[in-house]
Amino acid sequence: MSLATASATKPTLGFSTLEQETVVDELEMTGELPRWLGGSLLRNGPAKFEIGGQPMRHWFDGLAMLHRFTIADGRVSYGNRFLESRSYRAAREQGRMVYGEFATDPCRSLFKRVQSLFSPGSVLPDNANVNIARLGERFIAMTETPLPVQFDPDTLKAAGVRPYEAPGQLSTAHPHMDRASGGMLNYAAKLGPRSSYRFFAVGPDQSKARVISSLPVKEPAYMHSFGLTERWLVLAEFPFVVNPLALALSGRPYIENYRWKPELGTRFTLVDRLTGKATGGFQTDACFAFHHVNAYEDGDEVVVDLCAFSDAGVIEDLYLDRLRAGKPFAAAALTRFRLRASDRSVGRERLAEASIELPRINYGRCNERPYRFVWGVGDGPGGWLEQVLKIDTSDGATLSWSAPGCYPGEPVFVANPDAEDEDDGVLLSVVLDGGTGTSFLLVLDAADLAEVARAKVPHHIPFGFHGQFARA
Ligand SMILES: [Fe+2]
Repeated sequence: MSLATASATKPTLGFSTLEQETVVDELEMTGELPRWLGGSLLRNGPAKFEIGGQPMRHWFDGLAMLHRFTIADGRVSYGNRFLESRSYRAAREQGRMVYGEFATDPCRSLFKRVQSLFSPGSVLPDNANVNIARLGERFIAMTETPLPVQFDPDTLKAAGVRPYEAPGQLSTAHPHMDRASGGMLNYAAKLGPRSSYRFFAVGPDQSKARVISSLPVKEPAYMHSFGLTERWLVLAEFPFVVNPLALALSGRPYIENYRWKPELGTRFTLVDRLTGKATGGFQTDACFAFHHVNAYEDGDEVVVDLCAFSDAGVIEDLYLDRLRAGKPFAAAALTRFRLRASDRSVGRERLAEASIELPRINYGRCNERPYRFVWGVGDGPGGWLEQVLKIDTSDGATLSWSAPGCYPGEPVFVANPDAEDEDDGVLLSVVLDGGTGTSFLLVLDAADLAEVARAKVPHHIPFGFHGQFARA
């Protein structure tokens, strides 16, 4: 490979700003889409990595941009727009960073920092760049602060109303859907002199959160997601913890206040979804994860599958200067934990040789229940995420899709409405083509990862995190 080709296929472009907001009525396509596939893939991710000359430091810091791929009659249209959050509007109006982000802070007075502890709603950022969820008829963009941003799924414009506020200062952008109510279940950490973990529910038409359970905690763990079975909410506390007072007063960016304390181990707590009663005492060796994959009950045991790292070093790996320099990053192993109620023991087993992140399952059919397949992305020789993967959890068998110089994002599974099999459907992944410097929507057959179609976007799309498919 020549030097010129090598630099052209580097993933660095995925960490550079996209300023342009656009609408394309029909994307250029190759292949043919299945006739049953209709609806919109809505995706979220950072797209602006500097404000008024101040560079963002971490992948998780960039200002959120929404992307919409609408599939109808075998054709794909596209639109993108910055998420008009309070954080975004303040940055645009003042030409500087006003609210703090995951690992980058503007200069703030001690007064402002104390205020954030006692009146979080007024000063917390709402740059919701992580995920998208549907709550009844509402679409919301989410991050790890308690302030989701509602938007119109067609125009991607912000609705200008707060759909709800999570009962704490920290939350997750990975809610679960409650099959019974059609509402949402999520987690928040309430910080203060007495801190607590709180699970809460929001009904499909409600704007108030109902706390299901409140568990006291001295030093809350960083939590990016949680698990759900038919009976239990599953809390996995990794030993990456924060002293709430230090968080409020240190003046350091948010994530730099967390400390890795492996001596605490990894602790699981099961919370009854109906009564809120907690069952704890499940402890195993230290590890770290962003993503729960799935969880379910199996007799006396609760099975919890995670994309597990050996420690929290991956957060350091995702600083932009490291990523742009092509430095290596930690890989996650698909790991199954078995929590046995009778003796509080925790079994642990790696399910596949391949490393996998940004995991997706056939959520509608399999979440909370026994399941077989996980789709996600895996790394490659170019130093970034270069494969779409399918793992069979029953035997670890792994399939992969890759193409030279291409960097795929999270593959979203969309089930064939007439499906009998768990993996009958397609995967939708936004891929950066390092060769052309543009991105495309990749459609794969979810069963064998055969390429079905591509729809080409006229510009690059910075690497994003998560999205959802809304059926037409
Ligand atoms: Fe995530």
